Amino acid sequence: MASKITPLLLRSGVRCASRVARPQIRAFSITASRPSDTLQVHRNSPDNNPDIPFKFNAQNEKLIAEILKRYPAQYKKAAVMPLLDLGQRQHGFTSISVMNEVARLLEMPPMRVYEVASFYTMYNRTPVGKFFVQACTTTPCQLGGCGSDVIVKAIKNHLGIKQGETTKDGLFTFIEVECLGACVNAPMIQINDDYYEDLTPETVVKLLEDLKATGTSATSSKKAPVAGPLSSRESCENSAGLTNLTAEPWGAEKTRSDL
Ligand code: FES
Repeated sequence: MASKITPLLLRSGVRCASRVARPQIRAFSITASRPSDTLQVHRNSPDNNPDIPFKFNAQNEKLIAEILKRYPAQYKKAAVMPLLDLGQRQHGFTSISVMNEVARLLEMPPMRVYEVASFYTMYNRTPVGKFFVQACTTTPCQLGGCGSDVIVKAIKNHLGIKQGETTKDGLFTFIEVECLGACVNAPMIQINDDYYEDLTPETVVKLLEDLKATGTSATSSKKAPVAGPLSSRESCENSAGLTNLTAEPWGAEKTRSDL
């Protein structure tokens, strides 16, 4: 009998002990601490405050009229994202004045526009350099080719800046970003609207030098480097050549007799 009760007593004893050892404390919040409030907060500065006037230029006003035609008049606030984008392109970044002007045009409470602009990280709410360099450091880029770590190191060394900083001449701003959807051509970076792919430390430095040459002189005949893979690839084809579907197609197939 004693041998049957002993394991039961042992199990119950362990269970009770574990309950006693558990601290009876409940946290009020489990929100992760925020190391920076840059993405959430606007603070007035000499180059970004509501007293700086902003108006869309004539060309953008025409574009805005076109964009607004896509939406019923009572839903014109749906155009907030393209208008913020136009404002950013005209002004160089999405300043508080750009957001306020978009709110005025779309008859929205300014806070609603601030919410959109602070949610999407493609809206730069602080000034950036002429060339906005975004290096992808997500896993495929970290592992593909020479890896994004050496690309990031080469950029930082060449420009002499850290993540989030702008060079003194105002030409380059550098940040690290998550996957930009061109993993097959890793490692890659985005500069303004263009992707530069299949990078090596040498090609990325040459790219930055070429961009600097186009950016420092208005009369420079130097053209901006062509976007895309900076390797022998044209696109995202296998660099080792075709490995399947190598035979000629045997004929034009028809799946419908009326075509
Ligand atoms: S991981 Fe870099 S583009 Fe996808």
